[in-house]
Amino acid sequence: MDSQATDSVDNAETRPRPHRMLALIISGGLVVCIGLLATAIINRRVDALPTSSRVDEFRIGLNAPFITTADAIVDKMVEVGEITADDVVFDLGCGDGRLVITAALKHGCHGVGIDIDPVRVAEARANVKLHGVEDLVEIREQDVFTVDLSEADVILMYLLPWMTKRLIPQFQEMAPQSRIVSHDFGIGDILYIKPDSTHQVSLEGTNETHLVHRWDTPLHVPPPRTE
Ligand SMILES: C[S@@+](CC[C@H](N)C(=O)[O-])C[C@H]1O[C@@H](n2cnc3c(N)ncnc32)[C@H](O)[C@@H]1O
Repeated sequence: MDSQATDSVDNAETRPRPHRMLALIISGGLVVCIGLLATAIINRRVDALPTSSRVDEFRIGLNAPFITTADAIVDKMVEVGEITADDVVFDLGCGDGRLVITAALKHGCHGVGIDIDPVRVAEARANVKLHGVEDLVEIREQDVFTVDLSEADVILMYLLPWMTKRLIPQFQEMAPQSRIVSHDFGIGDILYIKPDSTHQVSLEGTNETHLVHRWDTPLHVPPPRTE
């Protein structure tokens, strides 16, 4: 009798009642839903992340991607800059150093290549050695917006227009009759400061035509618009 009573008490406590079952099902369902929702949110965040190279670019502070200037355009830029052995040439965003190295090889000028990306700086330094112009060309790891350009006679650059526009105060430190030579892009919008000359370069074997612009200093910067 006693044992029967005990059995019935045990069974009552361990046997799930209908409302308990329902609560268990609902809370189980909730846990699954929350899990699925969290996974979806995490996946969306991961998808929205930049690729690893973009992460590198943000980390380095790159303002223009590394796209090289073709040899024929390099030659034209160096020619248009009318570089002499007495000139100091600054290559802003030098990449692998091809502009400033070519200028030094062709004209025996001194040059400074500036790039913010340590990978490009290492490449450019290796190319300086490869071409034996260590006595003429120095490569600096630096942000172009912090460079003192007062020593520069010639600027060579392949940078985006918003960057070249932001560089104007630095260009204005250059001595009169210095030259600024740009591949494709203007100083700001191409109509903002009209180049003193523009030259076309057609790349053999392609249907690409590129532009090389030259400005002589001092630049004729339009006064700020008052509205
Ligand atoms: C379009 S590539 C030009 C490379 C080379 N001058 C040429 O014409 O082949 C632009 C270069 O600017 C560099 N760059 C981007 N933002 C920079 C910054 N704020 N300061 C210095 N270099 C920068 C990049 O690392 C890249 O090498």
